[in-house]
Amino acid sequence: MEPKDEIEVLLSEEQLETRIKELGEEISRDYEGKALFVVGILKGSAIFLADLIRSIDLPLDYDFVAISSYGADTRSSGVVRLVKDLDASIEGRHVLIVEDIVDTGWTLRLSYLAENMKARNAASVKVCALLDKPSRRQVDVGIDYCGFVIDDLFVVGYGLDYNGRYRNLRYVGVVRSSRPEN
Ligand code: IMP
Ligand code: MG
Repeated sequence: MEPKDEIEVLLSEEQLETRIKELGEEISRDYEGKALFVVGILKGSAIFLADLIRSIDLPLDYDFVAISSYGADTRSSGVVRLVKDLDASIEGRHVLIVEDIVDTGWTLRLSYLAENMKARNAASVKVCALLDKPSRRQVDVGIDYCGFVIDDLFVVGYGLDYNGRYRNLRYVGVVRSSRPEN
């Protein structure tokens, strides 16, 4: 797809690949001897999850949850709700929540709480985020595995969209010509 907006590369395909391999190795070491249940937050995390799990050398399965905002997006409303739950029980399983980017923190907080992973007797719950934008945080969320910490920039690609576009870019970039309101 030929982007119409001007997009500046922030994280190249190679940088993503290298870092995701490192994350996979770290996770494989930390959970050695255990099986993992990976929970992706739709839709943005799908691409990252697909690459991450192939860097993890453990028995694992995965599922997705979906969060939706009441307004146009989570950034403006800060109000989010769970619209797709897990299909199966996570009792006794080691859950790793995978998110594309943590901005205000609301999406992650809700998936964590509404899912109520711990109340469902998961053996453990940890979070892996590809990108962290700490400057915009509104709620405190712990990130156990973080790919990259970035500045307050609106980024697209590698699963992340701007108005439903650019998820299929192989890199993470910044839209220069049409930065949306935050
Ligand atoms: P939070 O709930 O404010 O932490 O936002 C998390 C969600 O907002 C992410 O899962 C993305 O879907 C979206 N988001 C936040 N920042 C960006 C960005 O820079 N580009 C694209 N989507 C973003
Ligand atoms: Mg998302």
